[in-house]
Amino acid sequence: MIPKRRFDAVIVGGGGAGLRAALQLAEANLKVALISKVFPTRSHTVSAQGGITAALANVSDDNWHWHMYDTVKGSDYLGDQDAIEFMCRNASSAVYELEHMGLPFSRLDNGKIYQRPFGGQSQNYGGAQAIRTCAAADRTGHALLHTLYQRNIAARTQFFDEFFALDLIRDADGYVLGVTAMEIESGEPWVFEARTTLLATGGACRIFRHSTNAHINTGDGLGMVLRAGLPLEDMEFWQFHPTGIPEVGSLITEGVRGEGGFLVNKLGEKFMANYAPNAKDLASRDVVSRAIAQEIRAGRGCGVHGDYVDLKIEHLGTEKIKARLPGIRELSMQFAGADPITDPIPVTPTAHYMMGGIPSNLHGQVVSPAHYGPEEAVPGLYAAGECACVSVHGANRLGGNSLLDLVVFGRAAGMHMIEHLRENPIPRPLPQAEVEKSMARVARWDRKGGTETVAGLRGEMQRVMQDHCGVYRSEELLLAGLEKLTRVAARLPDAAIRDHSKHFNTARLEALELENLLPIARATLVSALARTESRGAHSREDHPQRDDRQWLRHSLYYCQNDQLDYKPVKLKPLTVESFQPKERTY
Ligand code: FUM
Repeated sequence: MIPKRRFDAVIVGGGGAGLRAALQLAEANLKVALISKVFPTRSHTVSAQGGITAALANVSDDNWHWHMYDTVKGSDYLGDQDAIEFMCRNASSAVYELEHMGLPFSRLDNGKIYQRPFGGQSQNYGGAQAIRTCAAADRTGHALLHTLYQRNIAARTQFFDEFFALDLIRDADGYVLGVTAMEIESGEPWVFEARTTLLATGGACRIFRHSTNAHINTGDGLGMVLRAGLPLEDMEFWQFHPTGIPEVGSLITEGVRGEGGFLVNKLGEKFMANYAPNAKDLASRDVVSRAIAQEIRAGRGCGVHGDYVDLKIEHLGTEKIKARLPGIRELSMQFAGADPITDPIPVTPTAHYMMGGIPSNLHGQVVSPAHYGPEEAVPGLYAAGECACVSVHGANRLGGNSLLDLVVFGRAAGMHMIEHLRENPIPRPLPQAEVEKSMARVARWDRKGGTETVAGLRGEMQRVMQDHCGVYRSEELLLAGLEKLTRVAARLPDAAIRDHSKHFNTARLEALELENLLPIARATLVSALARTESRGAHSREDHPQRDDRQWLRHSLYYCQNDQLDYKPVKLKPLTVESFQPKERTY
């Protein structure tokens, strides 16, 4: 008999979005289960370094309209302007709320929250650099995660740590009624029944070989959604952060350039002025990553293989580096063997963030046009954080907007879930056949034998994605990548699970994670192949121009037959004038 627990809400994922939504629900005295495959304060939000963006105007003149403009422009006009307005308008109150919860922000001399410049930020719609990102030194995500976790403990959210979510449970009317899961320690299956389910499972950059993401970022919520027959949105758009430590992948925050650091090539040239004459090193991430890639291609990369550039901050001085960038100094010394007080930090573009994800609206409801008519919500199902595509980031996210997205839409989702619970007070019968289908999928991995290894196949997938779907793409490259990926995926059923016990069977867990990663990689290649233009982080060398006439629209990928569908970008904000697409320069 599978253990079954019933809650008002089940939250899958213990990062910033999951914790923020859970808090909203638990403080409304609802019964909330939060299931997380790691201890929640080890979720990937903990690695967010540079800060959370909000137009507090503590350092430079600022307001949310300018933040909104920068975000729309940063998205290369693919972001939905209603959602972007919602996020930017709610940013300051979200940050003050965190401050009042006890988040230990760094402080200015006058006691106000410290803010630093980040890429793509401007005053007055494209004018001088704005200073908008609120920081707790270079450990903002860590501070945010611990603050939210403690508040949830106080609010009596029930935590199920080291549980792995398997599948959504949907009834014949399309209602989502919870999830199946596996307790990692015992290997036992569980059913979490709930009238509302929120997916907050974070990103999936582990499809790539070099990534700033934790090993846990395997897109589990996205896999669940695809298996449920629902689409993923804008999967061709992945952000390559300009400054990851080569090979290792560790993030060197954009805050380093915000504090005054700059990039140089092997000739010692500050090359960013050639690519972004105004913003230079603080252009948006897609622009800076392409600039680094071009310097490397032109033979101006540093090191024996010429495959990285240098990030210099010695001129900031020891005191500032120790006060504002202590974590970066530690990472750089440990993983690059360079103390930035005296040496440059080697950096290279590294997969960092998934702009696409589970289509959702600004209440966090998952929407599925093809199944329910235009923009109809899937009843009972919500998504927030990196796994969701609202879409506030469009084709390229601005730094500091991801922590903001987590708290604004985590809170909004929590609020809407409360409404849904009020309107749907009676639990619907759980479809047992759905539970059994999920269990049968997991049971496939209980067998012996097999000629492949999960680690080997995962490594091959990651190499394919790195080589065929990186900063620059082309039809030839993508097609070859798709062929290779198809061959890798076909070998998955032959993967051996060497550990046949159920207890702490990490081999089986990794196989289940790869079952999530492979279709995400496929969604990425198929969507990227179809989009014959360059926009934001999607750079097609064979289609170098943005094409608003044909491509100012979101893609929707369904795994059945690799079907693609499209929906329009929402250009109309909630209360202000639209920002019309125009040429994007920095
Ligand atoms: O560079 C950084 O600190 C990353 C921030 C972000 O991705 O928002």
